[in-house]
Amino acid sequence: MKKNFTVVCNFKMNLIKRANYSRAIKKVNCENLILCPNFCDIANYSKLTKKYNLKIGAQNVCAEKNGAFTGEVSAEILKFAGAEFCIVGHSERKKRFFETMSQANKKIKQLIEQNITPIVCVGEDIKKSTYDTEEQTKFANNFVKSELKSVLNGIDAKKVIVAYEPIWSIGTGDVPTTKHISSVCHGIKEACKPKAVLYGGSVGVSNINQIYGIKSVDGVLVGGESKNPKNIAKMLEIINQ
Ligand code: PGA
Repeated sequence: MKKNFTVVCNFKMNLIKRANYSRAIKKVNCENLILCPNFCDIANYSKLTKKYNLKIGAQNVCAEKNGAFTGEVSAEILKFAGAEFCIVGHSERKKRFFETMSQANKKIKQLIEQNITPIVCVGEDIKKSTYDTEEQTKFANNFVKSELKSVLNGIDAKKVIVAYEPIWSIGTGDVPTTKHISSVCHGIKEACKPKAVLYGGSVGVSNINQIYGIKSVDGVLVGGESKNPKNIAKMLEIINQ
């Protein structure tokens, strides 16, 4: 049975020409596609929203409302540029820019105030070699629940999308089993009842069908493959079949 399934493309710090996306996606149904380019390209990509019925997101936002924060971009500015979604707490922000859960919590609040839907990333950092698959799933479930508790403190989870991204799977090609993804995403729904739960980590043309088939998953957060608009179009074709 066909289900509503969102594809979020995180361009990361890559310059991807709007015309390349435009060409690749023109014949596919894009109503569940969210493109997250770099800050400077948000307004540019926003021009595609009407023509292709897609949505635009950002990859980060400032935790403060406005004022003397040189080099930062506020939720209000994102809204003005055309963003309707924003990724928060991506593992690369945590690891490379030392972002904390309490900063992510403040960012989510700023976004909600501007009516931008936060896409909140959670996920265990390691795949433990001493664990069997069941132990890894249990570890992930506990890890994610404790992250959600702090990152969503004081926030109505119905206003956010949660992306389950096991950090060991990001950019590695090492995708957890269907059973693992299913269990953790189901656990997220039980724990906080968000708007939707996405899976992210090495998603591509070869495994989109398998992930689409997981009942507790409402979409995917795609990183590396976003650089290839033709493959994104193929993924949309597969899920719209
Ligand atoms: P990946 O990245 O698809 O390249 O694994 C996912 C992400 O960083 O959100």
